Amino acid sequence: MRRMVLLEAIEKRLLEELNPKVRLVLETGRYLIEGGGKRLRPLITMLSCGMCGGDPEDALPLGIGLEYIHAASLLHDDVVDGAKSRRGRDSANLVFGNEVAVLTGDYMYAKALHLFSTYGNIEMIRLVSQAVMDMAEAQVLELSKVGELITEDEYFRIIEGKTAVLFGACVAVGGMAGGCQDRDTLYEIGLRMGRAFQLVDDLLDYVGDSKKTGKPVGNDLREGKTTYPLLSVIDYLDRERVESLLREVEPTEEEIETLRKEVVSLGGDARTKERALEELRVAKDLLSKFPDSSYKEEILKIMDFVVLREL
Ligand code: FPP
Ligand code: MG
Repeated sequence: MRRMVLLEAIEKRLLEELNPKVRLVLETGRYLIEGGGKRLRPLITMLSCGMCGGDPEDALPLGIGLEYIHAASLLHDDVVDGAKSRRGRDSANLVFGNEVAVLTGDYMYAKALHLFSTYGNIEMIRLVSQAVMDMAEAQVLELSKVGELITEDEYFRIIEGKTAVLFGACVAVGGMAGGCQDRDTLYEIGLRMGRAFQLVDDLLDYVGDSKKTGKPVGNDLREGKTTYPLLSVIDYLDRERVESLLREVEPTEEEIETLRKEVVSLGGDARTKERALEELRVAKDLLSKFPDSSYKEEILKIMDFVVLREL
């Protein structure tokens, strides 16, 4: 099945399954979903199912559940971050208010588990709920480190929890739906993809085209967050100056721009891309254990897309 066919089925089902009784929940949920997104999580879930010998269609409602978890986490994240934009337009918290955004996130998260209880099994629910626990913990860890220059270990703990575990769950759940027993390998493939994805996300925060990413550059520095591009060149920068900028509650745009440009000119962007590629090399190596198929080819294409997108 071609990627476009899968995507069409995903878009349709995403809107169908939402189905709340209260109109405002529908409006808010639709607003986020129709705002765009690459649907990587449901795609990977379905492709992993196909790669493991199952019918990708069987994994569709599970992929939808995983996309709802992602959507819920974005709704909550934008409230926590006090964000004003998402996917190139006003964020849901700005349009509908914090309360409605949080509660719609709760609805979508519960809907996801409901889908898993109907179309999945207990093992999958255990895996997915563990992923959400990890996500929430990582978000709290990240929050507690705002304004601090964190270590590389701390950085990887944060990105693993906030992004990679959900990708791990997608590949593992899809594979389980397709009848594969080697859950650990599947999970590890997703984890590595997720790490690469977040590394590139953090890279785009330094060098991305804000028209394409839908987010302004320099946001992480503005929010006092240490990410890999900065960490990769920290030895060549004045540590104390970086620490004091991260600590500042309202740094000037000039300060942010200066440091952002310095990180880029020191090669922080290239180092980050290289680190993301390293993760993908491991993921591809693990993927080679599985028999060749068009599904596997598509997963490999998504891996390349993760690093090449909008660069
Ligand atoms: C965006 O990160 C946020 C995440 C990837 C995860 C957020 C997770 C939670 C809020 C906890 C889980 C909650 C539920 C209901 C499932 P970012 O701020 O680095 O990216 P951004 O620039 O796109 O906002
Ligand atoms: Mg955010």
